[in-house]
Amino acid sequence: MLLPLFRTLCVICLLVIFHAHKAAAAAANLNSICSTLASRLPNNRVALPRNEAYNVSTSSYAYANQQTQRPSCIVQPASATEVSLVIKLLRQSPNTPFAVRSGGHATNRGFSNIDGSVTIDLTALRAVRVLKDGVTVSIDTGASWGDVYRVLDPRRRSLNGGRASNVGIGGFLSGGGIGFFALKYGFGCDAVTNVQVVLANGDIIEANNKSHKDLFVALKGGQNNFGIVTRWDVTTVPQGNVWGGSVVYLNTTTAAQLNAFTRWKSSKNFDPASSVEQSHVYIGSINQWLVASLLFYSEPTPFPKDLKGFTDIQPQLDSSLRITNVSGMADEIQSQSTPNQYTIFSTLTIAISPTILRKIHSLWVSSVQKQSANNIAITSSLTLQSIPSPPSSPSRQNSLGFPSASTPQKDLVLVLLSSFWEDPAHGPQVEAAVQWFITEAEKTARREGVYHKFQYPNYAAAQFQDPLRSTGRLEELRKVAKRYDPTGVFQRQVRGGWKLF
Ligand SMILES: *[C@@H]1O[C@H](CO)[C@@H](O)[C@H](O)[C@H]1NC(C)=O
Ligand SMILES: *[C@@H]1O[C@H](CO)[C@@H](O)[C@H](O)[C@H]1NC(C)=O
Ligand SMILES: *[C@@H]1O[C@H](CO)[C@@H](O)[C@H](O)[C@H]1NC(C)=O
Ligand SMILES: *[C@@H]1O[C@H](CO)[C@@H](O)[C@H](O)[C@H]1NC(C)=O
Repeated sequence: MLLPLFRTLCVICLLVIFHAHKAAAAAANLNSICSTLASRLPNNRVALPRNEAYNVSTSSYAYANQQTQRPSCIVQPASATEVSLVIKLLRQSPNTPFAVRSGGHATNRGFSNIDGSVTIDLTALRAVRVLKDGVTVSIDTGASWGDVYRVLDPRRRSLNGGRASNVGIGGFLSGGGIGFFALKYGFGCDAVTNVQVVLANGDIIEANNKSHKDLFVALKGGQNNFGIVTRWDVTTVPQGNVWGGSVVYLNTTTAAQLNAFTRWKSSKNFDPASSVEQSHVYIGSINQWLVASLLFYSEPTPFPKDLKGFTDIQPQLDSSLRITNVSGMADEIQSQSTPNQYTIFSTLTIAISPTILRKIHSLWVSSVQKQSANNIAITSSLTLQSIPSPPSSPSRQNSLGFPSASTPQKDLVLVLLSSFWEDPAHGPQVEAAVQWFITEAEKTARREGVYHKFQYPNYAAAQFQDPLRSTGRLEELRKVAKRYDPTGVFQRQVRGGWKLF
C-alpha cells in the first residue's frame, strides 16, 4: 500500500514542479514579449501594471467582468501599421494568447481582455472623418459612437450606431449592431462600405464589395475571427432632429405594457421610423419593480401615432420625451446604463403571439426570485425590442442569417435578459438562474410555435449560448477564416469572442 501511495505522491510532486517551471517560463516569456513590443513600437505604447495608462485602460471597460482582468501588458497601437507590427510579433509566439479590445463594452469575461497575457487596446485609433463625398464617414475602430454622432449631427446626417454614446465601434459593428434606425436601415454593419483589416500575417488590406468580398461579408456579424479591423467606412443618411426619450412607469402597468408591445408588433401599419425598447426592471437594492421604456421616433414628431400605445399608459413616474438630436439621445441612454458591476447578458428571439410575452414575463419574475435568493441584491432587466430589418439587397449581405426577402423587423422580438451584481461570489447563482430562464423561455416559445433560432451575438451569454451557430452561416465563415488566417491565429491565440472551430 505504501509504495503505490509514495509513487503517486512523487508523480504529483513532479507534476507540481513541472507546472511551476512551466508557469515561470511562461511569465518570463511574457515579460520578454511585452518588452519586445515596447522596444519595437514608439514610446508609451505598452502599459505595464505599474503604469497609470494600464489603470486607465482596465478601468474604462464597461463592466467589472473585464475591468478585473489583469493582462501582463496592454499594447496600445496608434495606427494600422503598428497593429500589423504587433500581430507579426504575437504570431511568432503561438502559445501566447491575446485579447483585442475596442470600446470594451462586451459583457462576457475574456471577450476583450485577458489574464496574464497581452491585450491589444485599440482606443488610440479614434479618428472620425467625413469623406469628400459628404456621405461616407470613416471611423477608426477605437472611437465611440458618441464621437461619431458629434461629427454627424451638425451635418444633419446619421447612421445605425450604438444607442449608448460610450459603446465602441469595432465590437458593435462586427457583432451586427442595433441602432436607433434599425427598423429602417437594418443592422449597423449593413451600412459599412469598406473596412481596413490587419490580417493574421500582418498584411493590411481593404475589404469591400469588389475586393475581398468574402471577408467583407464575414466581418459583418462574424466578430473577431478573421483579422483586426482598424477602420470602418460607413455610409450615412440624411437625418435631422428626432423625438424620444425614456418613460418610467410603476409596475402596476405591467399587463398594459405587455399588451401595448404585443399590439405594436402585431400591427398591420408597420412604421419603420419607430423604435421601442421596453424594459421590465427589478432593482434589488431598493426592492423595486418598474417598467422603463425607451421610445424613439426618427422624425421630430412628438407623440407619433405609432407609439401612442406606450405614451398613453399611466401612471408615469418620469418622462424625458422631447425633440432632440441623436447625440442627445445617446448621451441620455449612456447616463442610464449600469456600468462597473458584474453582469450577464443573455438573449432569445421569438415571433409575437397574443400570449407569449405574458409567459416570458412571468418566467423572468421567477428567475429574479432565483437570482436574488439568499438576499443577494441584483438589478435585472427583461428588455423587449425588435430585430433590425435584413440587408436591403443580396449585394449588401451580412453574416447574421436573415435573407433580404424576410421581415424580422416586423415579425420578431429580440428578448434580452441583463442582470447586474456587485460581488463576484454571487456570479454562479445569478448565472444559473439566468440560464434557467433562457431554457424555460425557449421551451415555452417552442410550445407556442414562436421560437426562432437567432441569438444576437452582442447579447449572448458565453456560459451557455453560441450565436455564430444560430445563423446557418457557420461553414461559410469557417471557409473565410481558413482562407485569410490559415494557421488559425484568430482561433487559437485570440481566445475571447465567439469562435468558429
Ligand atoms: C491603479 O488602480 C489601483 C486600484 O484602483 C490603485 O490602487 C493604484 O494606485 C493605481 N495605480 C496607478 C499607477 O494609477
Ligand atoms: C445636440 O443636442 C445637444 C443636447 O441637447 C446639444 O448640446 C447640441 O448642441 C446639439 N447638437 C447640434 C449639432 O445641434
Ligand atoms: C410589482 O411589484 C411588487 C413589489 O413592489 C410585486 O409584489 C408585484 O408582484 C409586482 N407586480 C407585477 C405585475 O409585476
Ligand atoms: C458596391 O459598393 C459601392 C460603394 O459602397 C456601391 O456604390 C455599389 O452600389 C456596390 N455595388 C454592389 C453590387 O453592391
